Amino acid sequence: MNILEVHNVSKSFKGVRAVDGVSLGLRQGDNLAIVGESGSGKTTLAKMIMGLITPDEGVIKAGRGTLQMVFQDPVGSLDPLWNVRSILKEALWHNRTLSGRQIEEKMASMLTKVGLSSGILGRFPHEFSGGERQRIAIARCLLACPRVLLLDEAVSALDTLVQKQITDLLKTLKQDLGLTYIFISHNLRLVRRFSDKIAVMHQGKIVEQGLMPAVLEAPQHPYTRQLLQAAFYTHL
Ligand SMILES: Nc1ncnc2c1ncn2[C@@H]1O[C@H](COP(=O)(O)OP(=O)(O)OP(=O)(O)O)[C@@H](O)[C@H]1O
Ligand SMILES: [Mg+2]
Repeated sequence: MNILEVHNVSKSFKGVRAVDGVSLGLRQGDNLAIVGESGSGKTTLAKMIMGLITPDEGVIKAGRGTLQMVFQDPVGSLDPLWNVRSILKEALWHNRTLSGRQIEEKMASMLTKVGLSSGILGRFPHEFSGGERQRIAIARCLLACPRVLLLDEAVSALDTLVQKQITDLLKTLKQDLGLTYIFISHNLRLVRRFSDKIAVMHQGKIVEQGLMPAVLEAPQHPYTRQLLQAAFYTHL
């Protein structure tokens, strides 16, 4: 049984087809990377999956309340009037049995896991760097315990050490909790390490999808070959 199904979904903005007839299915425990150049429709597809944008055509079937997204732009996704404590607390609303003290402990421990100090709970989003804000967004997402996480360039702005720390954390959580990931990234080297499946987007379409090693070793579409050449400087 698929946990998420996308059937022939399209979206245009002022006549430009940002997403053009995309279909994909996700099973529980899948870790799907979506790659493709800037403007190929990745974020638009993610926002349709989240229900933030209505498709012009097509159907998306997802379980209710099971999706969370880490947005590409963490400035826009964190309320500037809320401090970190309020931002993270909101993610724990579903867990009504927690005492105030347990809530504080959970928030502090998650901040440590994403490489931030638990002493920042009283601070506001504008007081952080872009990478720190992104880590706050990731912490919020993980505290909400979704079954499916959509990570849109979630670690792209971070330096490689923190990137590794967070992708390692995501992998552990995935194993422990049986999570399902859609990992959107420009970085083929990173997705090769992180994900098991890959979908390649080009001009709004998925031109190729499959298991990571199969697609990387024997890419069928010329655009996938171009992407791989650009990423690994190899002749395929
Ligand atoms: N709200 C919008 N209004 C008009 N055009 C939009 C809107 N959102 C996206 N587009 C257009 O749709 C296309 C796909 O955009 P999208 O943000 O999905 O690309 P992307 O693959 O996420 O790119 P990037 O890698 O740069 O994040 C682009 O041409 C973009 O300009
Ligand atoms: Mg995008």
